Amino acid sequence: MKVKNICCIGAGYVGGPTMAIIAQKNPLINVTVVDINKERIDLWNSKNLNNLPIFEPGLDKVIKETRGKNLFFSTEIEKNIDNSEMIFISVNTPTKTFGDGKGMAADLRYVELCARKIADVARTDKIVVEKSTLPVKTALAIKNILDETGSGVNFEILSNPEFLAEGTAMRDLEVPDRVLIGGGSDASGKEAINSLVNIYKSWVPGENILTTNLWSSELSKLVANAFLAQRISSINSISELCESTGADVDEVAQAIGMDSRIGSKFLKSSVGFGGSCFQKDILNLVYIAKSLGLVNVANYWNQVILLNNHQRERFAKKILTTLYNTVAGKKITLLGWAFKKDTNDSRESASIYVADMLLDEMANISVFDPKVSEKQIYSDLNYINSRSDAENKDLLKVYRCPYEASENSHAVAILTEWDEFKEYDWKRIYDNMNKPAFIFDGRNILDKINIEKIGFVYKGIGKS
Ligand code: NAD
Ligand code: UGA
Repeated sequence: MKVKNICCIGAGYVGGPTMAIIAQKNPLINVTVVDINKERIDLWNSKNLNNLPIFEPGLDKVIKETRGKNLFFSTEIEKNIDNSEMIFISVNTPTKTFGDGKGMAADLRYVELCARKIADVARTDKIVVEKSTLPVKTALAIKNILDETGSGVNFEILSNPEFLAEGTAMRDLEVPDRVLIGGGSDASGKEAINSLVNIYKSWVPGENILTTNLWSSELSKLVANAFLAQRISSINSISELCESTGADVDEVAQAIGMDSRIGSKFLKSSVGFGGSCFQKDILNLVYIAKSLGLVNVANYWNQVILLNNHQRERFAKKILTTLYNTVAGKKITLLGWAFKKDTNDSRESASIYVADMLLDEMANISVFDPKVSEKQIYSDLNYINSRSDAENKDLLKVYRCPYEASENSHAVAILTEWDEFKEYDWKRIYDNMNKPAFIFDGRNILDKINIEKIGFVYKGIGKS
């Protein structure tokens, strides 16, 4: 099928950047990103590119180049579905918070709503592409819904999971390690796969485009995230061992990472992984394994999550015990709220959990993050704890300046690896803190020796 118009349902962290690159690389295809959230669409359309709803280095440049030419953002969902030959579903698939599978399974209601909407409005044949991360076999459910319309329209379902990481999304999209496309093996399935392959071929070398059956593609996405998160939990488990033995976790990571069979990436120990996907996708994998009666498989992967929770708790506990077992009424500064650098996304960030544990200890917390808004910080806290918004606002203050945030603090904890933190005037921060001044480096980004020279008591992850 010749694709001239693409519609992407979901203008989020994946839909926005992915479609911007597809539009940039395929100037003859019109790409429209639609969403039910009008505020978000308005922000995507805002004249001032600083107001785009997500911060991602390099995104503004691509939006400037394509928006209004062949890239559009709209709330007219039905019209754009009907106009397009290919429809991407890129909506959120959070962990279920109710009913069967609560706290583990993926909540598929948004995906199902998209399928039903497509079924309702489609009058011509469509290729429907799963861009969201989904449990294996979801394509079957989508196909069933679409085929029950009785409209005579032929729907081909493809799975095309996204592997971009936030903060490096534009580069990941521009030069992906691989593009994965799963589809049917009959003639129309193969034709649909080819249509999508041709779109990616505009910029991705053919050998980096991998085609598989639908179930392999759906499952590979969950497995890729599980393997990545597993590496972080593995090195974080070793960080605790390092602290008890005098080994240095960064040195261990370097030593093992130089083995080409292990590789050096994703071995940075930390206060714990965050983000909207690692935990959600592993929980989903665990749920699928459990549902199939594969208890050992489920327990194996669940351990990755348990270790991550432990790492966050361990970090908060270390602050408490180091500060003489009481932080009540003490000011503690958290530098970084985003779940990683170069993003304004704070979903499942370790900072939220560390802050909450310290608030339970009656600490006074000050937070500085270069990109996350004050509104978002309180909304994150209100979501996970039972304190009222007023109580959270009373105990935790958000600052727009790191020097003000840390004034009179007993401790500073670094929770996001923002590059700018390394460049701060740490002497100035030290001078304005309560003594002894502690620094808890949850990302091991500061030079221990230099920081100790200033006078700080340095506590890194996996360092003694
Ligand atoms: P997001 O929450 O940022 O965006 C999803 C958007 O979908 C929202 O704007 C929401 O309003 C919209 N939406 C929901 N239901 C809708 C409907 N029925 N009609 C129209 N719009 C609707 O989510 P995201 O981070 O972009 O993630 C989307 C999917 O991609 C998830 O399955 C996620 O697991 C996967 N993924 C995310 C990342 C990432 O880095 N964030 C990377 C790879 C894959
Ligand atoms: C991750 C995957 O890397 C992407 O391939 C995937 O597409 C995406 O999830 C998804 O499905 O949503 P993302 O969560 O955006 O991307 O960012 P990562 O770079 O993977 O970082 C995740 C978390 O792990 C962050 O909190 C980061 O600080 C932490 N991390 C990462 C470590 O603690 N140590 C490391 O060595 C690497």
